[in-house]
Amino acid sequence: MEDIKTLVDGLSLEQKARLLTGKNFWQTRGIEHLGIDSILMADGPHGLRKQTGSADHLGLNGSSPAVCYPTASALACSFNEALIEEMGRGLGHAARSEGINVLLGPGNNIKRSPLCGRNFEYFSEDPLLSGKMASAMIKGIQSQRVGASLKHFAVNNQEHYRMVVNAVVDERTLREIYLASFEIPVKEARPWTVMSAYNRINGVYASENARLLNGVLREEWGFDGLVVTDWGANDQLWKAVAGGLDLEMPSSGDVGPHNVISAVKDGRLAMADIDTAVTHLFRLIERCRTAADEPLYLLAEAHAQARRVAEECIVLLKNEEAILPLDPERHANVAVIGEFAMSPRYQGSGSSRVNPYQVTSLIDSLNAADTKFNISYAPGYRCDSDEVDTLLISEAACLAAQSDIVLLCAGLTDDYESEGRDRTHLNMPANQLALIDAVLDRNPNTIIVLSNGSVIKMPFADRAPVILEAWLTGEAGAEAVVNILLGKVNPSGRLAESFIRDEQQDPSQGNFPGRDYEVVYQEGVFIGYRAHQRLGNEVTFPFGHGLSYTTFDYRDLVVRQLGYSQFEAEVTVTNTGRIAGKEVVQLYVGEQQPLVSRPVRELKGFAKLELAPGESRQVVFALDKRCFAYYNTDLADWHVNADDFLIEIGRSCEEIELTAEVYASDNCQVSQIPQPRFVQREAFFKTVDISRNSTVSDLKDHPTGKFLYRKIVSGATGGGEEVVSKDIQLRMANELPLRNLVSFNAGKDLDEKGLDVILKVLNATRRDTLLGKCIDLFTRHR
Ligand code: BGC
Repeated sequence: MEDIKTLVDGLSLEQKARLLTGKNFWQTRGIEHLGIDSILMADGPHGLRKQTGSADHLGLNGSSPAVCYPTASALACSFNEALIEEMGRGLGHAARSEGINVLLGPGNNIKRSPLCGRNFEYFSEDPLLSGKMASAMIKGIQSQRVGASLKHFAVNNQEHYRMVVNAVVDERTLREIYLASFEIPVKEARPWTVMSAYNRINGVYASENARLLNGVLREEWGFDGLVVTDWGANDQLWKAVAGGLDLEMPSSGDVGPHNVISAVKDGRLAMADIDTAVTHLFRLIERCRTAADEPLYLLAEAHAQARRVAEECIVLLKNEEAILPLDPERHANVAVIGEFAMSPRYQGSGSSRVNPYQVTSLIDSLNAADTKFNISYAPGYRCDSDEVDTLLISEAACLAAQSDIVLLCAGLTDDYESEGRDRTHLNMPANQLALIDAVLDRNPNTIIVLSNGSVIKMPFADRAPVILEAWLTGEAGAEAVVNILLGKVNPSGRLAESFIRDEQQDPSQGNFPGRDYEVVYQEGVFIGYRAHQRLGNEVTFPFGHGLSYTTFDYRDLVVRQLGYSQFEAEVTVTNTGRIAGKEVVQLYVGEQQPLVSRPVRELKGFAKLELAPGESRQVVFALDKRCFAYYNTDLADWHVNADDFLIEIGRSCEEIELTAEVYASDNCQVSQIPQPRFVQREAFFKTVDISRNSTVSDLKDHPTGKFLYRKIVSGATGGGEEVVSKDIQLRMANELPLRNLVSFNAGKDLDEKGLDVILKVLNATRRDTLLGKCIDLFTRHR
């Protein structure tokens, strides 16, 4: 490609405008005779999803087989940046072998509420951990000369009304929590692309948010890549381009380009903004160009890698009387109970769903391990229903009673966790809970193995002697579980989110998922463990918690001051047990007399160490100003209040082993810091009328809209090759804003004028006379 500037200057307004929208569902537009290539993208936070057949408008149809890795909620529990980078390399390699230029991941939104339907796709409730995991994955992917797409920027923390909801967040919370998780990878890993979120932030769509895109992302953080919309996320393309967006996906045909051209012609949009967007696209094309070769995708090797990754993600939550690892001497007869042991649950639903290469089950993996155990199996429940089946339960309980030990596989079934839908409670399916009770009654030697992508209530936590959180650990997850059960692998995962007792402990409770298109982040910075420690919540298992088959000792915390708010903390960790193991050393910082309310402690560093029995190692953490600062909205900057701070080394946020106190300050002192104020939120009102940004679900009970509603949802499901359930498709169709009825079909079935007519009709008072015309118009076009 010739010099980018010359190329951009040589294009007409029409040519440039056409480049701002996709060619189809997954590709950008190219201009062949000018040597401008088309970029091919695919989903892939935990495995490639290259669609082979038709690309449905929700992007849910089948894809070519690829290795399915653990999902993000599991990955973060590894606390192992090197491992996640290695997995990123695997993903990048797979993408390149399939000719993919940009992989749409990692997903890096903070888990504000444990109920968010996409939590399985996100790393953590903590911004440092999330940011570091995302960085590692991006570095790995991009090392293979495939671009990553850091998503969904930003404040995309729920699925309810996901495409239109307005997240009202104060500036300090934005900076300290929701933006911080993106700031780390943008600065450290320099992703080639960032994907703008569906939602609005303080009244403005993320895709049109000049403050967020041009301001924070580009000017403050130095992002020089391309900003692409989440699929269908933008409303007015011209506004988005003016705000710093470069590419609308998927293609809207001529709709987006027309929108941009008319804005330039009547002076709403500057030509320079279009040039900037096109320049970013050309820069991406140039970055992708170096990756023309397509290496071989060795699926079996990638499967083994997925197993290794899974082994570090699994968290041993409880292991009374060292029941695990299993021992053929003590546990000759093993009862394996639970349908999940045969049909594992290993990934979530929605756009991240991978068509797996080779799924292994717990039963198969146990049998393949060639052990001396006698293994028997009973399903105990069905996965396609929550109904308590007393026959299945009593059969399982009888088997449990006759066995030395029980492996009970449970968790959440597919329908519980999906893109497009939040959960309304934290319960596990009733049939599984009833089974757990019955089995524990008959055999207290029961090991609960959990497969779920997000937090669940565990009413059995006190009764069950052993709980292994196996997460959604991908297609080789069951092999990893078996290696841990047998002691071939020493568990080393630590919780990346707090397991709360019940919904009452959810910090966003009462403000999630909001009302009338609006959700207020009333709890501020106090989410996850930051909230539980402030409120004194006794959670089931705290952030950072996880057990090992060996023991570790911590000593000699030494803190050296290098500047006003610059320190180095050193600690020695020893493996005091008899087998090798990995420990996650966690460093927390807490301000003692803050001027603003601050969390008791916040994670500011972590390191995963592998230690042989008896081996000691020193870990050194570098602490800079940001480890002590809070975001001061009056200064519009990070500020360290001159104060004492505790530096704590712990095994979890609740198990602190060593503490040191230091005095830190900014080098420029501010004598009086006023309390941070809530930012003035930009006005956003839910319109009583139906607008282009109303969702399909808003039509459901609308007097005239309900006819349209039926038409739309009946056309949105049942194409034939779907890999997610009808129910989930229906929910996703319900979440679509009406504007996407135009853009998703490139204006062919319904154009902007048609939509305007429909909106006028829907909002007219003389509905009955116009209704016929409206329905007629819509159905004729389809
Ligand atoms: C999801 C994105 C995904 C995109 C393309 C959207 O619905 O939110 O995460 O990358 O679809 O499939």
